[in-house]
Amino acid sequence: MSAIRAAVFRDPGRPVEIEPLALAEPRAGEVRVRMTASGVCHSDLHVRDGDWPRPGPVAMGHEGAGVVEALGPGVTALRVGQPVALSWLVPCGECRACRAGMPWACPSSPSFGHRMADGATVLETAGGEPVLSYCGIGTMAEATVVPVAAAVPLPDGVDPGVAALIGCCVSTGVGAVIKTAAVPAGASVAVIGLGGVGLSCVMGAVLANAARIVAIDRVPAKLDVAREFGATDGLLAGDDRVETIAALRDLTDGGPDFVFEAIGRVPTVELAIEALPIGGTAVLVGMTPFESRASFAVFPFVDGSRRILGSNYGFADPAIDFPRYAQLVLDGRLPVDRLIDRRIGLDDLEPAFDRLRSGEGLRQVIVFD
Ligand SMILES: NC(=O)c1ccc[n+]([C@@H]2O[C@H](COP(=O)([O-])OP(=O)(O)OC[C@H]3O[C@@H](n4cnc5c(N)ncnc54)[C@H](O)[C@@H]3O)[C@@H](O)[C@H]2O)c1
Ligand SMILES: [Zn+2]
Ligand SMILES: [Zn+2]
Repeated sequence: MSAIRAAVFRDPGRPVEIEPLALAEPRAGEVRVRMTASGVCHSDLHVRDGDWPRPGPVAMGHEGAGVVEALGPGVTALRVGQPVALSWLVPCGECRACRAGMPWACPSSPSFGHRMADGATVLETAGGEPVLSYCGIGTMAEATVVPVAAAVPLPDGVDPGVAALIGCCVSTGVGAVIKTAAVPAGASVAVIGLGGVGLSCVMGAVLANAARIVAIDRVPAKLDVAREFGATDGLLAGDDRVETIAALRDLTDGGPDFVFEAIGRVPTVELAIEALPIGGTAVLVGMTPFESRASFAVFPFVDGSRRILGSNYGFADPAIDFPRYAQLVLDGRLPVDRLIDRRIGLDDLEPAFDRLRSGEGLRQVIVFD
């Protein structure tokens, strides 16, 4: 057992507390990772605020990177000292989605039980109470024990904060554009919501050589940031959806070929679908509360051969895609470091959640020393 500190979620709406916990030794098929960085993603906030009912107590965080510190018995795929980014989805390998080559869509992943595959937990409080690890990795902790498949080696020289973001928002946003939608060169793209995920969609659209990239947010400062990432236009979203759609159509010759919704709110999901031109595609990336339902006018949708795609984890196959994205960062083609606007300590998590809730700031990253 090692003594660590971790951000523990217990009940929705209650502040997350930083607690001392005991971390088990890695068993066969597991490794211990000393965390170097963990991003604060809006999905963590969905949990914190109770949008997604989750069992507690759970060590939070799913966007993290670290260094392999100890190997379980028989583990040979990794070595001590290796830098890794953590994947929040280790597929079961057996279900229909896995057999169809869609690991990102696996519904039976043990990661969703926030435990190891055999149901074990790796953390406990001083009083012996078991603590789950969010998505089986619980990255907002000084160290974590994870399945070997969750720890993906990265090339040397990647900044820990950048490596952490490859673990969620970068793979999600870039992958939604280049894998899920496979946006062709010359296409027009709109991105609604310019947080870590939406700005990663913008980076993906630049990588895909989209001709027009319209960045949409309700926070004016975000539009300037998106232009720095390569967006060609910024559009401030007001309360009037009709006005926003009209402005978007003006900028994109009647509507963008692809619209990425990167917020997870019903009105913007509906806006994304409604703004489509004939043959256009809406890609839904933002995650709504569980019970949300959206509606759209069916006749023009069918008549105009429009499409809606759901994109989980940017169709990531982490063992292949994480090192690829890392290499693109090293080659100067994915400016992920610019997403990080604040490096904070574990104790600053609640103020970071407040900031994220307000739509302010870009990616906040917890760094561990
Ligand atoms: N599909 C996946 O696999 C996946 C992975 C990670 C995150 N997500 C989801 O993606 C979403 C975005 O995550 P994030 O971390 O980038 O969030 P974020 O909070 O950093 O960014 C959201 C952005 O949307 C803007 N916004 C909010 N309401 C708006 C409105 N009505 N009109 C225009 N702009 C508005 C905010 O100002 C902010 O810039 C979340 O729902 C998160 O859960 C999905
Ligand atoms: Zn995330
Ligand atoms: Zn599966």
